[in-house]
Amino acid sequence: VLPSFGPVDPFQLVKEEIDSVSERLRRSIFTGIPTLRSAAQYFFKVGAEGKRFRPTMLLLMASSLSSVMPSADYLTVDDRPPNVHPAEERRRQQRIAEITEMIHVASLLHDDVIDNAEMRRGLKALNSVFGNKIAILAGDFLLARASVSLAALRDSEVIQLLSQVIEDLVTGEILQMTSTEEDLLSLDHYVRKTFHKTASLMANSCKAIAILGGQDREVAQLAWEYGRHVGLAFQFVDDVLDFTGSTMQLGKPTLNDLRSGLATAPVLYAAEEHPELNTLILRRFKSEGDVERAQELVFNSRGIQRARDLAAQHAQLAAQAVQSLPTCSNDHAIMCRQALTDITAKVLARKK
Ligand code: FPP
Ligand code: MG
Ligand code: MG
Repeated sequence: VLPSFGPVDPFQLVKEEIDSVSERLRRSIFTGIPTLRSAAQYFFKVGAEGKRFRPTMLLLMASSLSSVMPSADYLTVDDRPPNVHPAEERRRQQRIAEITEMIHVASLLHDDVIDNAEMRRGLKALNSVFGNKIAILAGDFLLARASVSLAALRDSEVIQLLSQVIEDLVTGEILQMTSTEEDLLSLDHYVRKTFHKTASLMANSCKAIAILGGQDREVAQLAWEYGRHVGLAFQFVDDVLDFTGSTMQLGKPTLNDLRSGLATAPVLYAAEEHPELNTLILRRFKSEGDVERAQELVFNSRGIQRARDLAAQHAQLAAQAVQSLPTCSNDHAIMCRQALTDITAKVLARKK
């Protein structure tokens, strides 16, 4: 009989360790160049860090695959320089959490330039404070520092996995920008793009955690599957929240996708009921009144519900990947597996 635990908040379970990872991250992006320093630090300041969803998921994955409780030593900040490679497994996994968050924020800085965004995480977007040029360079700087930390792990497979993520992020963005008419109407194309822009980072970083934890191919593959399905569910919910969320809670405006000319899952499903939407999708909602009309058609369809169902299917597949992990007898690992499963439910219920 498996031990059962009362409800545990996945985020609370690793909060202390996440705080020390955040602190190390702040130190590892230090530079003596003042403008670069304030631009790079912008989204890592206490209070501006967002949900820290990825590092949380990654440390829970690390604990889920470990036969020991993480020692209290690992709750302190690792203050070795980023180019010094730590020998201890847990420290190496913490560095993956940092690197992942750096790549994520770098991609947001670039994304906000591309999307001409004004708000992010309830703050002014970096491009609207420092301008596009500094925002792009700050993103490049974060990628450079992430690369130094990655190289210092001296694991060529892990380096490859996280480098692939950067390629996938760029690919996703280009796929989105250069879609043909056929692509614009295709759910398949939308899912593929979503893998590249959101799920690849979660999949490959989860796999890196498993590899650094000394796990075999099969377990590493399950970690990858978990990250992929959580990532897809996460983005499908994001695309629903663009219709149903509140600007206050999201920290960024709603109906952003329609205004940017993007047809996401709710719209693509709604178009099956209201073929009139196809015309709007193909002209990227650019004519007067298109955004409002599309919104109305989406709300008068099962589009939102079907997009939620699609997210739920992937959340379920993510939970299955956790259940397929080899059995373990370590209570802490079992509790963290439960937390990984709870995260899949939290992704579906999230409002921000
Ligand atoms: C947010 O999507 C954007 C991404 C998840 C990825 C953006 C990737 C790039 C700009 C390529 C460059 C990558 C690197 C690594 C520098 P969104 O615009 O749909 O969502 P939002 O509402 O959060 O802006
Ligand atoms: Mg954007
Ligand atoms: Mg974008």
